[in-house]
Amino acid sequence: MNIGALTLNYPTVLAPLAGYTHLPFRLLVKEFGCGMVCSEMISARGLIHASARTEQMLVTCKDEKPLSVQIFGSEPSVMAEASSRVEASGADVVDINFGCWVRKVIKTGAGSALMKSPGLAQAIIKAVRQAITVPLTIKIRSGWEPDGAQALTIAQIASDCGVDAIAIHPRTAQQGFKGVADWSVIKKIKEAIAIPLIGNGDILTPEDAIRMFDLTGCDAVMIGRATLANPLIFAQVHNLLQGKAAEPTDILMRITLMKRLVNLHVDHFGEKRACRMLRGRLGWFVKGLPHSGKFRESVSQITTQPQAMTCIDVYAAFLEEHALFL
Ligand SMILES: Cc1cc2nc3c(=O)[nH]c(=O)nc-3n(C[C@H](O)[C@H](O)[C@H](O)COP(=O)(O)O)c2cc1C
Repeated sequence: MNIGALTLNYPTVLAPLAGYTHLPFRLLVKEFGCGMVCSEMISARGLIHASARTEQMLVTCKDEKPLSVQIFGSEPSVMAEASSRVEASGADVVDINFGCWVRKVIKTGAGSALMKSPGLAQAIIKAVRQAITVPLTIKIRSGWEPDGAQALTIAQIASDCGVDAIAIHPRTAQQGFKGVADWSVIKKIKEAIAIPLIGNGDILTPEDAIRMFDLTGCDAVMIGRATLANPLIFAQVHNLLQGKAAEPTDILMRITLMKRLVNLHVDHFGEKRACRMLRGRLGWFVKGLPHSGKFRESVSQITTQPQAMTCIDVYAAFLEEHALFL
C-alpha cells in the first residue's frame, strides 16, 4: 500500500483517537507492526499559536514511523500554515479531519461541517497541498446523508486536488458512534476513485478486518476503538493476511501490555501526568476478565509508577492464584 511516495509495510493504520493516540500508545501499537500510526486531531489555530500542549502533540521519534498527523480547522490560510508546521516537525503524512461531529468543532465550520461545503473543502485541500511536500490524506465520514453522496463529492474533489489517500468512516455526522458503519459506502467510494482508500469503522476483531478487505476492496484498514483493549490486533490482522492463525491476546500478554504502556506514558508525560491519564486507561485491558472491577478500582488512585506496577502485579497474582490465567 502506497500513500504518495510513502510505502507502508502493512495495509493497517491506527485511527486517530483524541486523548489516546499520543506517542506512548502509538509506540505500543508499532511494536505489533501497525503499518502507519496517526496522531490525535490537532487544532490548526492552536498549532500556529504554538502552545506548549500543542507542541508536545507534535513530538515524534523514529520508532513510530511512518506517522500521520491530523489537523482540523476551517480557514484555508491557517490550515496551510499549520500543515507546513506539521511537516517541519517530522510528520510523514498530513491528514485533514473532515469527520469530527462534535458540536464545538462543527460550529466553527471544521470537521464534518466541511462535508456540507464542497467549495471551502476544496479551498482547504488546495491550500494545504501547496504548503507541503509530504503526502496528504483526508479522513471523512459518509457525510450528512446515509447514502454517502457527500462522501463521494468530497472524495472526487480530493482526488482532483492531489490528495494521496482517503480514509472513510461510513457513519453520518449525526450518527456519532450510534448504529453501524455502512461498509457499502466504502465499496461505493472505492469503485469511484483511483487513489488509495482506507476503510474504517467497527473492526472489532482481526477477522472483521479481513471481511472489510473482502467486502469493500479497500486498500488498507484503519482500526480505532478495538486497539485500546487489544493493540496486538495489528499483528493478528497481519497473520490472517499471510494465511496464518491469529495468535490470541491471552492474559499474560495483557499484563505485559499494561506494564509497557505505563513505562511509555511515564517516559513521555512524566510520572504525575502519566498516572492521572492511566487511572482510567488501564481498565481497557482487563475488559471482560474476572474481577476486573476490583482492578479498575485499585488503579483509579495511582499517583506513582511503582504503585501502577503493584496494582498490575497484585491483579496478575490474583488471577494466577485462582487459576484464571487462561
Ligand atoms: C475517543 C475517540 C476519539 C476520536 N478522535 C478522533 C480524532 O481525533 N480524529 C478523527 O478523525 N477521528 C477520531 N475518532 C474517530 C476514529 O478515528 C474512528 O473513525 C472511529 O472510532 C471508527 O473506527 P473504530 O470503529 O475502529 O473505532 C475518535 C473516536 C473515538 C472513539
